[in-house]
Amino acid sequence: MQQWDVIVVGAGAAGLFCAIEAAKRGRKTLVLDNGKRIGRKILMSGGGRCNFTNIYASPANYLSQNRHFCKSALSRYTQWDFIALVQQYGIAYHEKTLGQLFCDDSAKDIVEMLQQECDKAGVQIALQQEITTVSYQDGQYQVVTPQLSRQCQSLVIASGGLSLPNLGATAFGYQLAEQFGLKVLPLRAGLVPLTWQPADKAVFEEISGVSLPVTAEANEVLFPEDMLFTHRGLSGPAILQISNYWQPGDELTINLVAGQDLTTLLTELQQQHPAQELKTALSRVLPKRLVEKLLELNVFQNQPLKALNPKSIERLVDSLQHYIFKPNGTEGYRTAEVTLGGVDTDELSSKTMEAKKQPGLYFIGEVVDVTGWLGGYNFQWAWSSGWVAGQYC
Ligand code: FDA
Repeated sequence: MQQWDVIVVGAGAAGLFCAIEAAKRGRKTLVLDNGKRIGRKILMSGGGRCNFTNIYASPANYLSQNRHFCKSALSRYTQWDFIALVQQYGIAYHEKTLGQLFCDDSAKDIVEMLQQECDKAGVQIALQQEITTVSYQDGQYQVVTPQLSRQCQSLVIASGGLSLPNLGATAFGYQLAEQFGLKVLPLRAGLVPLTWQPADKAVFEEISGVSLPVTAEANEVLFPEDMLFTHRGLSGPAILQISNYWQPGDELTINLVAGQDLTTLLTELQQQHPAQELKTALSRVLPKRLVEKLLELNVFQNQPLKALNPKSIERLVDSLQHYIFKPNGTEGYRTAEVTLGGVDTDELSSKTMEAKKQPGLYFIGEVVDVTGWLGGYNFQWAWSSGWVAGQYC
């Protein structure tokens, strides 16, 4: 039986960060992971460049049944703390858009930084470990794999969510929470493309590849970003963001002319080019293939601009500003970036991430019911929650 102070399950962003902090405090710390290498999601994140944080990260960017829970961790280890670490390692980065920070070069830089921090602090890492049972006796956790039994005082669960099952995602963390009597809130795929109803698929798959800036709205939440038509449905940042707020059966309201003053444009064009066709005028503000599709769907009738009047312009603008889609569902965990729901935050201390009714058991990162928007917020939660747990475990 090997004896450890701390065992962390999951060598992702949260687990590694927690282990580094625990080991810095002199705790004998081991990280167990079922994969062949550490930080696999970090490596593939942000298109290989890892959107590692967001300069605007604040509790308002997170979904959770208890919206206050994330405040403590986010304020104790902030985006500025992580940026300082990245700078200390000389990793070049840039702001892409909306405060999203990406590596200039490769996500590998972040993983190498974490590996070096682990080495410096003395964290041990064991890969390709399949945990068969976990039990608790006399203030110690027994963590058993086919090869070995290990014992620890503090057990930290950082096993992530269900997205990308082919990358090692398992329900381990949720099952372990339930084993110890902790409530797990319903899980669903988040930051995920939405799929067509069969009838819409037949109509819209022809324009797959078309992308445009929109605002996407569901349940009174609104995101202004780009939307992409795909063979399967709708994607792009605006859709991934709104997918966190969309529930099956809900409608999605899309402003196809977001940020454009279409009323003024059409009124001016009407005066300058009265014989111009409406579809030509609309092609100035919308992708041509989408305009053709909207015409086919009778969203507007093609006619010379001179045939329009203020009322018909108003009606047209309104229909383009409030275009309704009723998605069938989501693409699910196969393509989702995150899992919504998870270990109920009521079960955990927001200061330490320790389970209130199970001493020495901690949950951090995505396995907890805290989910960020798209844009570096989820990694920031992993760093922040990992860091705070590392101060106590
Ligand atoms: P994470 O999933 O990273 O790590 C969990 C680890 O536990 C994994 O290594 C897994 O193999 C291991 N594990 C699972 N079950 C186990 C078991 N039974 N035994 C042992 N080990 C087990 N976020 C962001 O902020 N910016 C971005 O650019 C992106 N980009 C992005 C792209 C893609 C394609 C995805 C899928 C996700 C993102 N994300 C993101 C989200 C981000 O990757 C995610 O929120 C964090 O990785 C969560 O960190 P965790 O450490 O909690 O889990």
